[in-house]
Amino acid sequence: MKIRVFDNSHDAGVYVAALAEQVIEDHASPVLGLATGSTPIPFYEALVRLHQCGLDLAPVKTINLDEYIGLDPSHPQSYAWFMQNHLFSHVNIPKDQIYLPNGVASDLEAECRRYDEVIRKHPVHLQVLGIGINGHIGFNEPDDALLSQTHIVDLRQETVASNARFFHDIEEVPKRAITMGVQAILQADQIVLMAFGREKAQIVAKSVSGGVRTDVPASILNLHKQVTVVLDRDAAAELMDSSGRLRIR
Ligand code: PGA
Repeated sequence: MKIRVFDNSHDAGVYVAALAEQVIEDHASPVLGLATGSTPIPFYEALVRLHQCGLDLAPVKTINLDEYIGLDPSHPQSYAWFMQNHLFSHVNIPKDQIYLPNGVASDLEAECRRYDEVIRKHPVHLQVLGIGINGHIGFNEPDDALLSQTHIVDLRQETVASNARFFHDIEEVPKRAITMGVQAILQADQIVLMAFGREKAQIVAKSVSGGVRTDVPASILNLHKQVTVVLDRDAAAELMDSSGRLRIR
């Protein structure tokens, strides 16, 4: 696992966008696995800037990790809307190359199987992840077992509370979501886990240095051979010694 610590999230986003550019240049039909939340926003901003400087995203396919159940893609807090707003409306990825789970599908189980098929058909070259304060990746929440396939998840109370900042009222936050499973995440050629801010420092340290545990879902990334953890100094705080150097590499 490679760890890269930046002075700020802007610089971290530029770094991740450069990794994405490399993947886009290396593959005729590049597939990016994408995440939502505040963390990847600097990455999307940097990718949009690269596009404005000439990077062609027309061959790119994107597969998002998750979506709230019950929010239509036109709902401003749906992840479909988030992606539209932060990336898709600014770049030239064709609409039919964009994949997200449908949180308003009439048969949600069938939707999970459909999404597994999408993932099977389009193996991800670079998977971008954020991390929840409880260690979730996608919406794979801490539990006795982690599920491998796309599934419906009851969001943990701390996840609902954390996501309430995007809604007027905590009651409006969906309590269920569809998420890609951990197997699909681990199948990506390359994974980038991003985290910013002091409130992520503890869970980041647990994830990268505490062994693999299902109550810290991100720790499963220790099983993958090409993971880069991209942090700002605050999120790296618990990995630094007193002179500001990384204790683990
Ligand atoms: P955040 O969410 O980027 O908004 O902190 C991360 C996550 O829950 O995966």
